[in-house]
Amino acid sequence: MSDKDIIICRCEDITLGEIRKEIAQGKQTLEEIKRACRCGMGPCQGRTCSPLIANEIARNVGIPIADIPLPKVRPSTAPIKMASLIGGKEHD
Ligand code: FES
Repeated sequence: MSDKDIIICRCEDITLGEIRKEIAQGKQTLEEIKRACRCGMGPCQGRTCSPLIANEIARNVGIPIADIPLPKVRPSTAPIKMASLIGGKEHD
């Protein structure tokens, strides 16, 4: 099976081949790879793909997986007060 057929990030449909291409271009952190190809930005926010990508970085760069910093998690939504929804008050 080719690395182009192996899906690493199922939320954003990113293959192992795409991840390896980014690493070959010099990206060595989850954050850099995330910005390049959107892996980790799907509904699961990288819970599934981040460990797999970190493992691939560690293998290719030759560093322990524990030395790879985790990416920042930014929720796709912001909490608002129920009063803002039902009472028409402005969101603060
Ligand atoms: S599998 Fe990558 S963001 Fe969900």
